[in-house]
Order: sequence, then C-alpha cells, then structure tokens
Amino acid sequence: MSQKPQANWTSGRNSDGQLHASPFIRWAGGKRRLAHTLMETFPQDFNSRQHAFFEPFLGGGALTFALGNVDHQVYVPGKKLRVSDMNPDLIETYVVVKDSVEKLIRRLRVLEDRIDEKNYYVIRRDIPNSPVNRAARFIYLNKTCYNGLWRVNSDGLFNVPFDKAKTRKAKLFSEENLMACSKRLQGASIRHLSFEKAAMRARPGDLVYFDPPYIPLTPTSSFSAYSKEGFGEEQHHQLAEVIAELTKRGVYVLFSNSDTPLTRQIFRDCLILRSHPMRRSMSADGNNRKNVNEILGMNYSHLHGSSVGEFTLVSKPKDKTQILQ
Ligand SMILES: C[S@@+](CC[C@H](N)C(=O)[O-])C[C@H]1O[C@@H](n2cnc3c(N)ncnc32)[C@H](O)[C@@H]1O
Repeated sequence: MSQKPQANWTSGRNSDGQLHASPFIRWAGGKRRLAHTLMETFPQDFNSRQHAFFEPFLGGGALTFALGNVDHQVYVPGKKLRVSDMNPDLIETYVVVKDSVEKLIRRLRVLEDRIDEKNYYVIRRDIPNSPVNRAARFIYLNKTCYNGLWRVNSDGLFNVPFDKAKTRKAKLFSEENLMACSKRLQGASIRHLSFEKAAMRARPGDLVYFDPPYIPLTPTSSFSAYSKEGFGEEQHHQLAEVIAELTKRGVYVLFSNSDTPLTRQIFRDCLILRSHPMRRSMSADGNNRKNVNEILGMNYSHLHGSSVGEFTLVSKPKDKTQILQ
C-alpha cells in the first residue's frame, strides 16, 4: 500500500489544486459519507499499483471516485479500476463521461435551460438515439426527478415523476466535477455486468468492494422472493457464495450493507462482520422509520487504517479458512 499524506477533506482539492472527483449523480445507498471509513478498512497489504480494485455494484461510485484522489493514503490509478453495474443506462452514462465529456457538457447546457414540469415529461418520453444525448437525458432525469430514483417499468422505460421543488435555477451538473470524473475514469474498465460475472474477473491479490442493494429492516415477502430492484434474499445468498469462492482464490473482499439480523445471518460464515455507527433511516414496516447501523464485512483480518476502534466486532467465521491471512 503506498503511503501518502492525508488528503485535505475540507477544501475538496488535491495539493496540486485539482478538484477531487465526486459522484455526478444522486444514487440510493450512495457511500459518499462512508468513503473515508471504507478506505481505512482496506486490507493492509493491498497493493493498488499491482492489483485491481473492483466495484461491481457501482451506482454513484462514491468510493471509486474517492480512491482517485492522489493525496489519499489509498490511491487506485484509473488503469487498475474495474467498475460495473446491472443498470445499462447508468453504465452507458459512465462510458460517455469517460470518452465524450465535452460533448456531454454541451448537451447538458442545453437541457439546463429546460428544467420545468412540461419539458421534464417531454424529455422523459423521448429516448435519443445517440449515447451522448442519452447520457445527458439520464443526468437530467436523475437530477430533476422525485428523490433521484432511477426506476423503470417492465418495458425498461423510466417512470419517476418530476420533483416539483425543482426550478429553472436547479443545477444539473458541475462542469469542473464532470471533467474531474472523466479524468478519473481514464484507463478504467466500465462494464454492464452482473456482480457474479464481474467477480469472475478478479485475480489473487485484487480487491472487490461489494455494495449491493440494502437488506430491509423487516424483510417483506416481496423482498424474500424478488425485490423491486430484482435483488432479494436469494441474490444475497448467491453473493455470500461468490464471496466464499473469491476467498478460495485469494481475492480480497470488502462488503457493506444495512446491519440487520438477516444481513448478519447470511454473511457471518464468509466474512468478519463489524458494525459501524453510521446511522441511516430505513422503513421498518412500510411506514415507521428507524435508524439502522451500517455493517462492514471483510475476508481479511489486517486492516489498513487505525480506526478499527470505531467499529463493533459482530462475528468472525468459525472456519478459519474463510479468512485470508
Ligand atoms: C447500493 S447501490 C450502490 C451504491 C454505490 N456504492 C454508491 O456509492 O453510489 C447498488 C447498485 O447495485 C446495482 N445492482 C442491482 N442488482 C445488481 C446485480 N445483480 N449485479 C450488479 N449490480 C446490481 C444497482 O443498479 C445499484 O446501482
């Protein structure tokens, strides 16, 4: 692990004056606030110059962007980045940010003059035929729809309503940040893949960060069968099997989710689980909201940073071969 001076978290800039790239979209379950803690829990001997970092549930990519800050203790160069997600519209947008950021910015400037309810529904209905215009539409809808949700119907058509609080003054993007995101993604592999297929590409010594959709506090029968996102209890069990397989192959795994009884049960045999007091509000039974801790899991015991004290050890696998030494 390369040792670097601690980043300046307050200015948002590297020591060379460059802006730190940060997520260019709003995303449910985004890890912006947890990114620094996650870096502290990287494996002590992960070598990001020689081995790759994988984020197979990419979403807004908070950790992927944070790891591009050259002043951080943990820095992963773009060419060692392998990011993927099952959302094809999201992945297409990342590819456009990487390859055609200037054209994208030009198109976003046009859309920024069209933030109102009437235009929203016109833009929502019409799917452009160029990747750049589709990516601009994706960012427009993400920034102006209700709650920043990306939800499509069974035909794959986006169906979230307009956020009536948005006015013409709302901002769709920061040009400087989009340029920084584009720079960050140079050299990276950006793929539309399921987490299983993405994980198969990892080699011994690589690190895979899994941040799957949250397990609800009180799983309903619809979650147990097949959640709205298509990621229910069965998919979490499959993820636990993939993690056990990666451990056998000598791949480091870091995992995060909501700290619920079901999360503990599914992942306790393949990961060391630690609870972190970063509380987020989740629905307990549809209406009542409750605060839930975040759970972090690792298949290794030597952590990079010194803030282990902030976590409560929840459990360790009984079978010691489930942990990389
Ligand atoms: C909790 S979000 C990740 C948030 C991300 N860490 C961030 O900082 O914004 C989970 C992501 O998993 C993706 N996803 C859902 N099912 C998937 C699957 N089977 N394989 C890969 N990605 C999937 C969703 O599209 C979503 O972007």
